[in-house]
Amino acid sequence: MDNPCRWIHFLSIIVGFLSFFSCESSSSDDAVSRLKAYLRIDTSHPNPNYGPVTEFLVSQATELGLQVQKLEIVKEKPIVLITWAGLNTSLTSLLLNSHTDVVPAEELKWKYDPLLAFEDGKGNIYGRGAQDMKSVGVQYLEAIRVLKSSGYQPTRSVHLSYVPDEEIGGEEGMAKLVSSSEFQQLNVGICLDEGLACAEDYYRVFFGERSVWKLVIKAVGAPGHGSKLYDGCAMENLRESLTRIYEYRKSQFLMLQEGSKAEGEVVAINNVFLRAGTPIPSGFVMNLQPSEAEAGFDVRVPPLVDIADLETEIRTKWAPTSRNLTYTLTRLQPQPSDGLRLPTSADDMYPWWDLLQVAVQKVGGKLGAPMIRPSATDSRYIRNVNIPAFGFSPISNTPSLLHDHDEFLNAKEYLKGIKVYSEIIKAFSSHVDITDS
Ligand SMILES: *[C@@H]1O[C@H](CO)[C@@H](O)[C@H](O)[C@H]1NC(C)=O
Ligand SMILES: *[C@@H]1O[C@H](CO)[C@@H](O)[C@H](O)[C@H]1NC(C)=O
Ligand SMILES: [Zn+2]
Repeated sequence: MDNPCRWIHFLSIIVGFLSFFSCESSSSDDAVSRLKAYLRIDTSHPNPNYGPVTEFLVSQATELGLQVQKLEIVKEKPIVLITWAGLNTSLTSLLLNSHTDVVPAEELKWKYDPLLAFEDGKGNIYGRGAQDMKSVGVQYLEAIRVLKSSGYQPTRSVHLSYVPDEEIGGEEGMAKLVSSSEFQQLNVGICLDEGLACAEDYYRVFFGERSVWKLVIKAVGAPGHGSKLYDGCAMENLRESLTRIYEYRKSQFLMLQEGSKAEGEVVAINNVFLRAGTPIPSGFVMNLQPSEAEAGFDVRVPPLVDIADLETEIRTKWAPTSRNLTYTLTRLQPQPSDGLRLPTSADDMYPWWDLLQVAVQKVGGKLGAPMIRPSATDSRYIRNVNIPAFGFSPISNTPSLLHDHDEFLNAKEYLKGIKVYSEIIKAFSSHVDITDS
C-alpha cells in the first residue's frame, strides 16, 4: 500500500460496498456499478486474481437464479459455466463466451488508475478490461437480467462461459474447456465471443481469424576468413532467403495498401529475430564468416489461404535445401474447417447471421461487413471443434483501445450493449426453424 493509487483503489472498493447497500437510483446505475466492481478485480497477468472473479460470477448467477458450475480442469485456472436452461434442451444451445483475464497496464501512463474504474464527467469509464472484455462478460449477465425480469423464457439453452488465460494463449483455458465432457454436454450450436471496438457508428463482426505460425529458417554454409569473397556461406544463403520472403511480404503489403484486401485477408510475415556470429565480450568476432545463421518469423495466415501452396512457397523459395536452408514451422493451432463459414443470408443452414443483423438493427445499431480478425482469440478453439463463432463486442463510436493506455468504455455505450445482447439472446434462443440434430 505504498503507492497512492493503491490507496485510492482501496477506498473506491469501500465506497463501492457502501453504495451497494445504499439504494441506487435506477437499474442502469446498478448495471454500471456491477461493471465497475468487475473491473476493480485485478486479473492482469502475470498474477491474475481468479478467485474473486469466480466469487463475483457465482454470486451474480445465483442472484439471477441461473445454474452455475465451477470447473478447475487446471489447478487455479477456474472456468465458470452459467446456464439459463431452455424449454427444449434437445435443441443446440447458444454459448456466450468471455475471458476473465486482462493484459497488464502501465499504470503510470494512464490518466486514472486502471483498477479504479473511474467514471469521468462524460461518462467514460476507465479500466483495464473496459473493452477487452470484462464489459462484455457483465453485459451478458445484465441482458439475461433484463430478459428474465420481462418474463422471457428461452427455447434453446443459453450458456455463459468465463475462461481464464486468453491473453496468454488459452492453453489452460478455452483449449481445455472445448475438449472437456462438460463442454460436450452444452451441445453448443453457435457461439459469440469478443470482437473489437469500432470508432465509427457500426459494430464490427468477425467470422474467422488468422492463425499463428512460427517459422524459423536456418542457413548453413562454409565458414571462412572475413576478408574472402566466396559462394556458399551461411550469411549469403540466409540473405537470399530474406530477399524471397520480403518479396512475398511486399506483395501482401501492397494489397493492403491499395485496399484490395483487408488486414485479416493477407498473410502477414514479420522477421522477429536474427541470430548469427561469434560473440565475444566486446561484441562479435569481426573477421570470421559464420557457418550458421538463423532468422525467426511471426506469420499470420488467413483461413481462406491455400495452406499447401504456402508451405510449397516456404519449402521451394524461402528455404530451399539447394541453398543449404532448412526450416521449422510451428502452427499454434490447426486451421478451422467446417467451424468457419462465411456468413451469408442465402445459407438456410446458417440462420445466425441474419438473426444477428436483425437483432442489432432492432436497437438502432448497424453491423459492418463480416471480417477475418487479424489477431488470435479463443474463438479459434471453438471453430476448431466445428462450432461457428462470431467475434462481436457491442462497442461503436469508441476508439479501439484494447491493450492500450486509458482503455475506456462510455456508460451509455455499455448500457446500449446490454440492449443489443438482450435482442441477440432473444433472437437466437427462440429460433427453432432449423433442422437440428
Ligand atoms: C424439441 O426440438 C426437437 C428438435 O427440433 C423437436 O424434435 C422436438 O419436437 C422439440 N420438442 C418440443 C417439446 O418442442
Ligand atoms: C553448403 O554448405 C557446405 C558446408 O556446410 C558448403 O561446403 C557448401 O558450399 C554449401 N553450399 C551452398 C550452395 O551454400
Ligand atoms: Zn480479449
